[in-house]
Amino acid sequence: MKGLILSGGKGTRLRPLTFTQAKQLVPVANKPVLFYGIEALREAGISEIGIVVGDTKNEIMRAVGDGSRWGVQVSYIEQKTPLGLAHAVKISEGFLKKENFVMYLGDNILKDSLKSLVNRFIQSRPNSLILLTEVPNPQMFGVAELEKGRVINLVEKPKDPPSNLALVGVYMFDSNIFEAVKSIKPSWRDELEITDAIQYLIDNGFRVESHKVKDWWKDTGKIDDILDANRLILESIPSRILGDVDEKSNLKGRIVLEKGAVVRESVIRGPAIIGEKTLIQDSYIGPFTSIQNGCKIKGTEVENSIILEKSEIIDIQSRIDKSLIGREVRIHKCPTKPSVNRFTVGDQSVIEIR
Ligand code: TTP
Repeated sequence: MKGLILSGGKGTRLRPLTFTQAKQLVPVANKPVLFYGIEALREAGISEIGIVVGDTKNEIMRAVGDGSRWGVQVSYIEQKTPLGLAHAVKISEGFLKKENFVMYLGDNILKDSLKSLVNRFIQSRPNSLILLTEVPNPQMFGVAELEKGRVINLVEKPKDPPSNLALVGVYMFDSNIFEAVKSIKPSWRDELEITDAIQYLIDNGFRVESHKVKDWWKDTGKIDDILDANRLILESIPSRILGDVDEKSNLKGRIVLEKGAVVRESVIRGPAIIGEKTLIQDSYIGPFTSIQNGCKIKGTEVENSIILEKSEIIDIQSRIDKSLIGREVRIHKCPTKPSVNRFTVGDQSVIEIR
């Protein structure tokens, strides 16, 4: 069994972050989203992984390398234009050859282990196994209609959903999927849709089975979902204090304080993670906050947020909540009179002021 991780795409819903960064490298609990997928495949015993890359190819290759860090072998498959998930499969035939494979969307995180599912796929040999999860708003997802465990129909963002079972971004296929991706036509948005390819399998007598996931699944394609994924991962993070904390500070709950991090006269309430060489001074860091390496937080209160590397937040009076702050951002109190709000923000940034 091989692995195929889709890490191309446009990432329009994650702008402005994706103007300068691959969305699959946005950190969740200080680890790029993409790494969760690689680790899930490795844990399932898969050692040969193909990563589909697009415009952000160089950045992804720099971050992942040859996969030896995880003990897996990574190959890169270039997708010149992001023409859809099924298109990504189509161009990967040379890498996948005739082997069964797990396809994992590079901006998704699935808490469940894939080990037993991979075994089920190998033993019961369906042509495809799709993962489903119950959602309160199936209108927003690809939805499956089931009959005795077999998938009989898939609908993309249905107005009148046949069930509340949404497709999760992890799929298993045998090589019959190549017939499907070569036969389907682009959708209204001009993409080859994976749901159409799976529907092709169903309509042409191939066996498509399903599995309902037990734990949580997150697609981190939007800001709120990244913050949610950050909360879910931090909920089960084990404590590790490697940084330096003075006696005037108070740390409570599960906290990761990386090497070289410094905490002075501050309160940190976990779960939270503070990166290497980050300074927290005279501040409050609340639950579900991830702060990356080399940041400076002074005289400020932050919670439920993600702050990327080398950013500085200094003397902000109102608490920062549910925020995603990019790399090398500086937010500080206006140093001179008159005391005004002054912004230098890039395209498509969002600022909400109390
Ligand atoms: P999406 O989030 O569905 O697509 P997108 O990246 O274009 O995002 P947006 O809608 O915000 O513009 O993609 C899911 C994953 O699959 C993601 O990791 C990107 C990847 N992908 C490809 O590798 N090739 C493609 O052609 C597409 C559409 C997505």
